[in-house]
Amino acid sequence: MLAVVPPPVTVRVPAKVNLHLSVGDLREDGYHELVTVFQALSLTDEVTVAVTEEPGLEIYGEGEGSVPADGTNLAWRAAEALAAHVGRGEPKVRIVLRKGIPAAGGMAGGSADAAATLVGLASLWNLDITRDELAEIAAGLGSDVPFALYGGTALGTGRGEQLVPVLSRHTFHWVLAFDAEGLSTPKVFKELDRLRVDGNPPRIGSHTPVVEALASGDPRQLALLLGNDLQAAAVSLRPGLRRTLRAGVNAGALAGTVSGSGPTCAFLCEDAQTAVEVAAELSGAGVCRTVRVAHGPVPGARVVGGDDAP
Ligand code: C5P
Repeated sequence: MLAVVPPPVTVRVPAKVNLHLSVGDLREDGYHELVTVFQALSLTDEVTVAVTEEPGLEIYGEGEGSVPADGTNLAWRAAEALAAHVGRGEPKVRIVLRKGIPAAGGMAGGSADAAATLVGLASLWNLDITRDELAEIAAGLGSDVPFALYGGTALGTGRGEQLVPVLSRHTFHWVLAFDAEGLSTPKVFKELDRLRVDGNPPRIGSHTPVVEALASGDPRQLALLLGNDLQAAAVSLRPGLRRTLRAGVNAGALAGTVSGSGPTCAFLCEDAQTAVEVAAELSGAGVCRTVRVAHGPVPGARVVGGDDAP
């Protein structure tokens, strides 16, 4: 009798931007205590998982030359972690990443691919597993992986993996400026530790006003409150980001911020039309490699064309 091979499953998964990222002190486990407000954006990766006799990983699009296509890739580690969790051996799957999210860009692209792999394999293997159970596996893979599962807008605490949803009444419009080269997240956190030993870089305040601005849905109010403690460290390592941040605001954005550990800069705009105009002007300004328009919040990792995923 022929074994029935399930059809491949494709999952779409969002990038994130941190509307607020307050970094506390270094913990004994090497992580920093965070308070962050994430928003999932319409800039996405698509991850296809398929049963195969020749397991492996293929990468196309953003970062295809620089992202490792081997067992060190977080998507592959996600497949291994899920297989171990459900008592399967080495995963006999092919994972294809079609990337729109910049690699090492501060937008959690690698985490997104890991989250999408979990959702895709749960469907491919027909697992009886909840999204909350997947989130526990996700947290073991990386601090930003659980958020990519849930999407929307959320408050993250701990090392960023403990999430509660935040009410966001409005669709916000963003312009994203990708840099020519990525930044290593651990290096940016280390640079912040160094800056804090040498001096006293400003710390952003409480997240409460950001949560209130999200509930009001007013982009002008939110723009005044965007803040990221990692920005000083990212700019210290990549001084050209100062010029990029200025150029976005000069082009008509309400405000700009470095996204997460950078170097991607995210600009909040008044509406969709303004975002298109800001993007056009910014691409001509010669301050970044590529410009994209996106909106948020959007849902987390979802099977494309299906609603049966956990
Ligand atoms: O969790 P993840 O593997 O994505 O984190 C990558 C690196 O970023 C960590 O090894 C650590 O250096 C830094 N990090 C941190 N504090 C956090 C999250 C990440 O110092 N809360």
